[in-house]
Amino acid sequence: MLFEHEIAWENDRVYEEVYRNSIDFPNEFWMQYAQDIEWKRIPNLAYDNEKKEWLSGGISNVCYNCVDRHADKIPEKAAIIWYGDEYGERREISYAKLQKMVIQISSILKGRGIKKNDVVGIYMPMIPEAIASMLACARIGAIHLVVFAGFSPEALKYRLTTSNAKALLTINSFRRGGKEIELAKNIPNELGIDIINLDNIQYHKNVIPDIDWQNSDDDLFILYTSGSSGKPKGVLHSALPYMLYVATTFKVIFGIQPDDVYFCTSDIGWITGHSYITYAPLFHGLTTVIFSGSPTYPEADRYWQIIEQEKVSIFYTAPTAIRSLQMFNKKIIKKHDLSSLRVLGTVGEPINKSAWKWYFETVGNKKCPIMDTWWQTETGGIILAPLRNINQKPGIAGKPFFGIETDIIEGELVIKNEFPGLYKAIVSECATADNALYKTGDGAVYEGSDIKIKGRMDDVINISGHRLGTAEFECAINKISEVQESAVVAVSDDLKGQTAFAFVVLTVTPERDDFAQIVKKIVSSTRNSIGSIAKPDYISFVPDLPKTRSGKIVRKLLRDIANGAENLPELHSVINSEVIDVLKVSVKNPIFCPDMCKLK
Ligand code: WTA
Repeated sequence: MLFEHEIAWENDRVYEEVYRNSIDFPNEFWMQYAQDIEWKRIPNLAYDNEKKEWLSGGISNVCYNCVDRHADKIPEKAAIIWYGDEYGERREISYAKLQKMVIQISSILKGRGIKKNDVVGIYMPMIPEAIASMLACARIGAIHLVVFAGFSPEALKYRLTTSNAKALLTINSFRRGGKEIELAKNIPNELGIDIINLDNIQYHKNVIPDIDWQNSDDDLFILYTSGSSGKPKGVLHSALPYMLYVATTFKVIFGIQPDDVYFCTSDIGWITGHSYITYAPLFHGLTTVIFSGSPTYPEADRYWQIIEQEKVSIFYTAPTAIRSLQMFNKKIIKKHDLSSLRVLGTVGEPINKSAWKWYFETVGNKKCPIMDTWWQTETGGIILAPLRNINQKPGIAGKPFFGIETDIIEGELVIKNEFPGLYKAIVSECATADNALYKTGDGAVYEGSDIKIKGRMDDVINISGHRLGTAEFECAINKISEVQESAVVAVSDDLKGQTAFAFVVLTVTPERDDFAQIVKKIVSSTRNSIGSIAKPDYISFVPDLPKTRSGKIVRKLLRDIANGAENLPELHSVINSEVIDVLKVSVKNPIFCPDMCKLK
């Protein structure tokens, strides 16, 4: 049954009124949805201005709400359906079974001395055990830190050490795209923390550790993401306020029904995998379908085959995946019956018109609204989305969620009021969130009463929806002895949305043949520092970089040059403007690094 807000998210006229109401009476709005949470002690009010705390006074547990209560009421219902790398590889995990798995893992953690507030790393592919591990941490009040399985040993180590992790949950290996990936071998030896390999563990029967009841504002997880600095930042989210935000946005924006089968193609290594693969669907007792293979292996019909087989009703993916599947022969998708689909969603990057049209017409058969959802690791859940009807405009994220006051200040999207999804602190920087005005870093414009996202205004680059910092690339490139300095900027890419373009100044002028060696070093250094998803697609060796009097690289100019902009702005601030013509010529013929890792 749909309630007022879910219905209002379908209809322009009703939306306005209901939205105003949620802004004028935020306490009423959030407390209505806080009733979806089962509380041990009900919170006094939604937001406590003095304490700067959400759901203050409340006591509950996130895992209890996502697993235990459903294991009591709907034990046989599938909580997770997993698809593996090959056709036919399928596992179904009921809520009762998920509860058992979670209890086993949490008792292992307790047995190893893990206590409330300890940080536990999770380095696993998209398998039910990974989700059970996150929930096991939540159950005992430990803080999980998921590290994407595609990240390198160096990136893994950085995240574990800067967050002071006590243990790491992992498995030996998995298969993806027909290849065996030896995950445990990626773990550096000298970490000095407890490595818990779930493949090698003996499970004890009949261990039932109690649920650790938590204060609302206790911590739930840390997830690292990229910002403007050379190092990723650890974003900390609180337990019940985050849960309230992701559960409410999911319910209202997707308009979920109890028998929905939900399939999101993200990975728990990213925020989407936390909020909308794990927590929101399980909180509502839905079935969440997960896939650890590659969308194009053995054939490019894996998503369509899974949708047909499971009768998926809500499908949530990224524009890059849509673009890459759009390129395949129409017959591949036409082979499959996708009539179970009711709602489609995208996330992670702007969706271009042609991909949107294909998604709407060919995947959704013109009957499914496309929820182009805009949000970030920092916001925990969806901030902007279009209304759920089929009169949408392609590429426009649309309206702020109820209870969220947005504005555009100097071209940047900002959030002006408190909301429960916003992160609590940045772990590695000892900074806490400023709830008064949150600046998103994304440029935006109004189109009528809708908001259109233009993209990042800072030095974050979004490759296939994966958020990486240009400074992280530069740190990796500058480590190479032949490199004097470098500047990495984002250029548009038809498939990946954006890709990295590196301008590199060398200390020596190499022989012609040695360039290839240096290119190899650059690619392997970025892969080692960050992971297989990170490598500049274009490299241009240049004599100098444009700089200001104080020695700052003028990145905006480099970005314009790399993107082939015709008219460059006035360049008074650049002291070595003679280099600009050289740069313009060099970008016409950069070294193109063939894609060694095909789309994941
Ligand atoms: C971008 C992902 C346009 C944006 C959930 C944001 C989008 C960054 C959209 C956050 C969208 C996300 N349209 N751009 N629908 N969704 N972005 O933290 O630049 O990995 O700031 O969170 O992705 O990436 P993150």
